[in-house]
Amino acid sequence: MSAIQIIVGSMLGGTEYVGEACEETLNELDHNVDIHLKPDLNSILENTFLAAEDLKSGQQNNNNSSNKSLWIICTSTHGAGEYPDNIKQFVSDLTNCDQDLSTVSFLTIGIGDSNYDTFCKAAKDISNLLISKGCNELAPLKTFDMSQDIDPEDLAQQWIRTNKDLL
Ligand SMILES: Cc1cc2nc3c(=O)[nH]c(=O)nc-3n(C[C@H](O)[C@H](O)[C@H](O)COP(=O)(O)O)c2cc1C
Repeated sequence: MSAIQIIVGSMLGGTEYVGEACEETLNELDHNVDIHLKPDLNSILENTFLAAEDLKSGQQNNNNSSNKSLWIICTSTHGAGEYPDNIKQFVSDLTNCDQDLSTVSFLTIGIGDSNYDTFCKAAKDISNLLISKGCNELAPLKTFDMSQDIDPEDLAQQWIRTNKDLL
């Protein structure tokens, strides 16, 4: 079981459904999940490092505790390749954050439209930012193209199940 923070960037609400679909599947897989629809870096860090403390005491007591601190970013792209408004402060705070994030692993799901030259740019940018902060990317960025006739919630759940051994 891992402690997972789902961090959602969404302007029109579609990506919130994708985040919630991921939450449902991760709960089924018995992970400890928090979803952040208005992401705040301080509370996400608090949850993340509390989970790491649990891990240490879990190892000492040999009980069933979280074994990984994982962030799953689900974000759309708006404007001309910009972050959704609700995640801009998080990104700014993360950019300025001096804390050691090398124990944080992450996955990114990007929702976008390939008619834009800046297809899923926000998701690409946040993945690169997390890598620059020393975080460990567990699998390559997964993108969903809304110009196709797809069900991104279902596809995101399938993707989580396919990658379940990484979590
Ligand atoms: C004004 C506007 C700008 C957009 N710009 C981009 C873009 O630059 N790149 C991209 O991949 N998708 C772009 N999209 C597509 C959205 O990312 C896509 O519709 C997504 O499903 C919206 O998710 P949300 O409902 O969570 O905000 C744009 C959509 C709108 C309405």
